[in-house]
Amino acid sequence: MLRSVILAASRSSQVERLVATAPYTRDVVRRFVAGAATDDALRVTRGLIDDGLAVTLDHLGEDTVTSEQAVATRDEYLRLLKMLAEAGLTPAAEVSVKLSALGQMFDEQLAYDSVRAICAAADAAGTTVTLDMEDHTTTDSTLEVLGKLRKDFPSTGAVLQAYLRRTESDCRELSSAGSRVRLCKGAYKEPESVAYQSAREVDKSYVRCMNILMSGDGYPMLATHDPRMIAIGEDRARWFDRGADRFEFQMLFGIRPEEQARLAGEGYTVRTYVPYGDDWYGYLMRRLAERPANLVFFGRALMSK
Ligand code: FDA
Repeated sequence: MLRSVILAASRSSQVERLVATAPYTRDVVRRFVAGAATDDALRVTRGLIDDGLAVTLDHLGEDTVTSEQAVATRDEYLRLLKMLAEAGLTPAAEVSVKLSALGQMFDEQLAYDSVRAICAAADAAGTTVTLDMEDHTTTDSTLEVLGKLRKDFPSTGAVLQAYLRRTESDCRELSSAGSRVRLCKGAYKEPESVAYQSAREVDKSYVRCMNILMSGDGYPMLATHDPRMIAIGEDRARWFDRGADRFEFQMLFGIRPEEQARLAGEGYTVRTYVPYGDDWYGYLMRRLAERPANLVFFGRALMSK
């Protein structure tokens, strides 16, 4: 119920104005977002890499409605990739891209041309791209774009969401050699017709999907903060004899940093997803919807002096 309310608020420009102008929002945003500028992203990335973590960078923004915005997003990724390479931060750092930020909702060709340019720039920088997955109405077109991109940029990664009923089948399709798949639970509000609704059903689906990916020939990227899922991931890595170069754990910046360090210390590859940029609202609200404790943290920060 609370999750539904927060996810509905994540699409409300009125609530966005309220939250953005609240006095201590900046402190809360800082916990989950690297900063507004490309230099902030680079600084945080360097720190994480020095600590033994890999990174994927997300320039915040989604549901872009003008081609100017979409082109500006593309250009920011091109600039970022160049700067990462010049700073010697690739291949440890890669980028994550939302097709909706590149214009998927109103001009699919523009979005495709832009993500292709980003993949080419990543390739030139010696790194790669993962396509974030958004709500279920975009799954087919995102996977279609992935298929086209992978012909020229085979290491382009996909994201699959365990809460969708279709995902076990998508995992089977995408568990072939060379295929990089980030498995997450899923962060959007989805109807029962397409998605499991209870946490227990989603967790069971996550484990089934993990079994398919970890026993397959691809490169699984287990994106979760859930201690049970992580423990099962460690178990499957032992069972299927997958070392640090054959799968990875992924977590979000600011969430369970001690666990990220612990896993990296045990020799696993751990990649931190680092968002940066001005357009943090939708991202932050989805993080709040996932965990009531984050809401308490946010509320306290807003109320306190
Ligand atoms: P969940 O939220 O179910 O929490 C389970 C348990 O994990 C909690 O009970 C607690 O023990 C622990 N936990 C969770 N948050 C914690 C916190 N803040 N502090 C301490 N413990 C905590 N989604 C999507 O739809 N499309 C996408 O492209 C992506 N991409 C993506 C990339 C990466 C790297 C990650 C980690 C996640 C995504 N997601 C995503 C988000 C994902 O779908 C999901 O919403 C969140 O990861 C939350 O789900 P969890 O698996 O972490 O567990």
